[in-house]
Amino acid sequence: MCGIVGFVGDRQAAPILLDGLRRLEYRGYDSSGIAVCGDGALRVKKARGRLQVLSDLTRAGADLPGTLGIGHTRWATHGEPNDINAHPHVSQSGRIAVVHNGIIENYMILKEQLLRKGYTFRSETDTEVVAQLLDYYYDQCNDFFEAVMCTLNAIEGAYALGIVCADYPDRMYAARKDAPLLLGFGEGSNYLASDVTALIRYTRDIVYMDDGELAILSAGGIRIYDRQMRPVEKEHHHIDWEVDAAEKGGYAHFMLKEIMEQPRAIREATAARIQSGRVVLSDLTMTAEEIRSIGKIYIIACGSSYHVGMVGKYNLERMLRRSVEVCLASEFRYSDPIVGEGDLVIVISQSGETLDTMAALREAKKRGARILSIVNVVGSSIARESDDVLYTWAGPEIAVATTKAYSTQMAVLNLLGLYFGDIMGTVDYETYTAMIRGIQNLPTQMEEILLQKDAIHELARECASHEDVFFIGRNLDYALSLEGSLKLKEISYIHSEAYASGELKHGTISLIEDGTLVIALGTYEPLFDKAMSNVVEVQARGAHVLALTTEKHAADMAARVPMVIAIPETEQMLLPQLGVVPLQLLSYYIALERGCDIDKPRNLAKSVTVE
Ligand code: G6P
Repeated sequence: MCGIVGFVGDRQAAPILLDGLRRLEYRGYDSSGIAVCGDGALRVKKARGRLQVLSDLTRAGADLPGTLGIGHTRWATHGEPNDINAHPHVSQSGRIAVVHNGIIENYMILKEQLLRKGYTFRSETDTEVVAQLLDYYYDQCNDFFEAVMCTLNAIEGAYALGIVCADYPDRMYAARKDAPLLLGFGEGSNYLASDVTALIRYTRDIVYMDDGELAILSAGGIRIYDRQMRPVEKEHHHIDWEVDAAEKGGYAHFMLKEIMEQPRAIREATAARIQSGRVVLSDLTMTAEEIRSIGKIYIIACGSSYHVGMVGKYNLERMLRRSVEVCLASEFRYSDPIVGEGDLVIVISQSGETLDTMAALREAKKRGARILSIVNVVGSSIARESDDVLYTWAGPEIAVATTKAYSTQMAVLNLLGLYFGDIMGTVDYETYTAMIRGIQNLPTQMEEILLQKDAIHELARECASHEDVFFIGRNLDYALSLEGSLKLKEISYIHSEAYASGELKHGTISLIEDGTLVIALGTYEPLFDKAMSNVVEVQARGAHVLALTTEKHAADMAARVPMVIAIPETEQMLLPQLGVVPLQLLSYYIALERGCDIDKPRNLAKSVTVE
């Protein structure tokens, strides 16, 4: 999704803006641009395509003098990706430039009004309306601060805005409503960004803006105002991510680096939460009484986070003996959900900014449910609006296709299940201790699986030319197959679908023909025999099968199937934690063989902040 960077300070702005935008590339974009105030002029450069085009156009920023500027990576919503629709958008007078994330919902009405007043528009975007409206109000009142306030009052929808005006080359304005925006405090320089990764090279002193707030940034400081334009004092957050955590560190792709980081990420997410063999969730404020009186449990998320919820359903129902409903956030929010006081809504989100997930959270909260979120990005909107947050501590995840965030979300959900189950008295001692041991062993077992990466690369070569793939599995293997299939389709562009094996006979089996690739998951011990029957069934129709199973069953499987990947044994509920690693590697290497842009797959964004 779109990214915003802003800089005001004691150095040339353009190179810093380009560097910040480069760190936001991972979010997905199709064009970029920067606007810089300097030497009494406002200069804007925009380009379709990769950021390198913009960098070349400005000689890495050297051509743009000035110590104040804003930059943007655009992910097209209103109007095709081209130089004109790219941000920043400049007002008719050429004085004002705006970058924007989100959607201005009433832009058509505002545009018509401005057209009637003689304004002309160059782009098809909703954002240009903001630039022209600022111009209009500025003309009317001759006070730019007031013009900003009038504009914010007039626009509806979601926005994170960065605004500069050539008449005020020492300050920039920032405003937020329903789209992430944060402020970075430096020495003699201050920053604006939609995502902390753009700033960690420059400052770790961060303030997250809240909805309705307006900030004015200058080299000497940042002033923040609430909706009523009263100055507000905000909590500062220290970001302790290492700079190299957001760099490739010798790997060909962020995705591979992040796959390889999973043992460490799982350790980070779980080690401090297990003390003397017991789960300790000191970051949770729910009392034992509140936990015992939980009514219905919902898990709400999108994409891979939703797939974690699917695994969570099986595991939480088993540990808590309560029914758990897993909902796609985009469906939940419009479903008039039967949720209310006494219910617990577990919201899962890596970014903490997914718009549908946020909207579903608010809907559930409005109806009285308690919100517990599992989030990676500290201080993100979802984290801040939840009653409780369990952070996944996975560090920055840059590749669009999630890997370590998925794994750590699952680990935290399992810990939560054990913690609740212990208090509710629904998880037996053997299961509890086996799970704790299993969770503690996960990093080492994941390391063992990662050692198989060259062998998995070999299998990927055999699979890379297929254009249709079916993932099948039962129970936890079904939940895992959803993620395996999504991973493959998002980065390799192979058509791939996941099915509960029992459903095959109800239609899908008609698609199996000679040579169709079926990835059969048979890790779930209680249903291994059934997994094997499904393998036989699809082979009888000509399928080419790759099977994922546990070491115990590897030989049986290999007797029937030409391609087998085996994972170590662990507690049943933890099998997807291990099983996902080879599936991630398989997708990665298949995409590599097909020459795909793995870290930035076409049409996809890391964090989906529009509907
Ligand atoms: C996008 C990402 C996915 C992610 C989903 C939900 O589609 O590409 O990897 O699973 O959003 O994002 P969240 O940040 O809420 O987990």
